[in-house]
Amino acid sequence: MSISRREFVSLSAGAAGAVAVGGVATPLPGIPRLHRLAAASPSFDPWLEIDAGALRHNAEAVAAVAGGRPIIAVVKNNAYGLGLGVAGPILDGLPQISGFAVVRPIEAMSLRDAGVTKSILLMGPASDEEAVELVLRDVRLAPFTDGAVEQLARVTRKVEKPIGVHLYVDTGMGRMGLPIARALPWIARVAALDRVRIEGTFTELTEDSDFDREQVERLRALAGQATARGIRLGTLHAASSDAIQKGQTEAFLSAVRPGFALYGGYTSDDAMAKGGLTPAYRLKARVARIEQLDPGAGVSYHRRWKATQTTWIALLPVGHVDGYPSRAVDGGQVLIRDRLCRVIGTVSASHTVVELGPERGAEIGDEAILVGPERPELHPNAIARQAKSSEYDMFMHLNPGLRRMVV
Ligand SMILES: Cc1ncc(COP(=O)(O)O)c(C=O)c1O
Repeated sequence: MSISRREFVSLSAGAAGAVAVGGVATPLPGIPRLHRLAAASPSFDPWLEIDAGALRHNAEAVAAVAGGRPIIAVVKNNAYGLGLGVAGPILDGLPQISGFAVVRPIEAMSLRDAGVTKSILLMGPASDEEAVELVLRDVRLAPFTDGAVEQLARVTRKVEKPIGVHLYVDTGMGRMGLPIARALPWIARVAALDRVRIEGTFTELTEDSDFDREQVERLRALAGQATARGIRLGTLHAASSDAIQKGQTEAFLSAVRPGFALYGGYTSDDAMAKGGLTPAYRLKARVARIEQLDPGAGVSYHRRWKATQTTWIALLPVGHVDGYPSRAVDGGQVLIRDRLCRVIGTVSASHTVVELGPERGAEIGDEAILVGPERPELHPNAIARQAKSSEYDMFMHLNPGLRRMVV
């Protein structure tokens, strides 16, 4: 499915557009649906603009740092909030992206449903039934438990085709993967399975630069030991956005595996100071109410904010349920007609009030940008810092029900 420019994608049942039926991830019929924006009567519902050019720019920037190595794009958690069915097909069309990685079967299915053709790696658990379905849809599995060998054997008995796997090895993160100390005999068991192809082997770094180096060394040593036994571990990969943004070249191996950087997020202030990426989304809303307040008039619950002079305020029908942080009220700003306006009162579930100042300078229906690349103050990293929230949450907490428009 290709998303044409300036079309809204309605993903009202969750942007992954899928439900679990009988234990197997099944796409909802008719989701995603496309809606043309009726230019004559724009909605007051907030929306997201997904910037295809920014995704392309970020992929180019990551590829340049990674010395042209293939990029396995991590699109878990609804493509970090941008929308799996929206960001997936855009990334699929970029030459720098060699494939995708997700953590849930339903995400892999939704990517295929969205028309993604490149390889997809499931970096998480699957039931036998799901594993069969995934293999039939050409999704690579990532065994990471002792019992995975038996599961792969069961799956091979149910499907005719070869099963591609990337072995998930724990080199010290302690979260996912088979502990490296037990990995060699385990790998030999996987390699001995009929019709199972080891296409890659990967690990997850702890994002502690010195220990990352140690982890990479462990993975390389394992590959050496496996090769000595006549087993090839395929594409080795470890680097997520953090290692890429820190320029940890030793971790780049045969492919890099970023998520956040592709969407334009920086993993640290140092990375942000270096720059080079563009946030790939804008959170927008339309002004729905404008009023002039007298000195002493209050705004929001408990009249949390009070006017000290005659001033104009505007109401934006967008709030923390949409992914805009509640604490944006402690210094956050919103762009309306080229003017940064302070957030006042409370950011509630679906309402945000801003102060326009002594000059009205805005009209009902005006577009407001809450998050986006337009100004440094609106950058997701800057808002996360100001609102004392996680920069990842600025992406991943975007409401899946928001309309998405590709620009
Ligand atoms: C195994 C694995 N690899 C790569 C990534 C991508 O990380 P980032 O978004 O920081 O690039 C993730 C995300 O948490 C992950 O779980």
